[in-house]
Amino acid sequence: APPAIIAPSILSADFAELGKACSDTIAQGADWLHVDIMDGHFVPNITFGAPVVTKIRTHVQRPTTKHGRGTFDCHMMIAEPKKWVKDFQKAGCDLYCFHYEAAISSTAAESPEATSESKTNPKEMIRYIHDCGMLAGIAIKPDTKVDVLWDILDNPHLAERPDMVLVMTVHPGFGGQKFMASELPKVAELRKRYPDLNIEVDGGLGPGTIDQAADAGANVIVAGSAVFGAKNPGEIISKLREAVER
Ligand code: DX5
Ligand code: ZN
Repeated sequence: APPAIIAPSILSADFAELGKACSDTIAQGADWLHVDIMDGHFVPNITFGAPVVTKIRTHVQRPTTKHGRGTFDCHMMIAEPKKWVKDFQKAGCDLYCFHYEAAISSTAAESPEATSESKTNPKEMIRYIHDCGMLAGIAIKPDTKVDVLWDILDNPHLAERPDMVLVMTVHPGFGGQKFMASELPKVAELRKRYPDLNIEVDGGLGPGTIDQAADAGANVIVAGSAVFGAKNPGEIISKLREAVER
């Protein structure tokens, strides 16, 4: 299985001290920073956009290897994922993780302001993200079946294959929600089929839930409130890592 990657979600950091929170978290042992982008359409909440990412990037050294320390893992909870690829690349995003649900054209009905140009299918999205020089991730919400991914993951064209799959373990939109163990069979099935795939879990992860997620086969662990709410964030990061490496 691929190595453990701990990715604190800065959604739970102090936004007034965001740059410092980012560099502190890396110093405390985090591998990646999980950056939650919400547009108020795809999810019922708004966070921040590319200008903020540009600023916080200056507080964290760029990764020197493909999945190295300091990777900016941008979780795009937005209705028009294609529209923002270039802006986020320029801002310093390393891994652009879009939602399957937003990329498929049927969601155009849910988001009337989306133009056909800004919508695209998942394979085209992945190719486009790669062409822009970033790693590509694809995320699924709790209501989406994991089966929709087989066709995407079995694609013989490497440029159209994702570097990571994100299985949401809460309904996206807010930090601090309860972990949904019901999503773990998706992780287990992905791991069984793809031993080398980076599988990320996001939502409700912490010392109390990490063992189940690790047993299912997740190797990229997002944790927001568990890390930023802790007296000693470094200790939580180590605990999460140990559980995955066990
Ligand atoms: C939720 C976000 C998560 C969130 C996780 O929509 O995608 O990344 O920050 O927060 P916790 O770890 O507190 O559940
Ligand atoms: Zn997230």
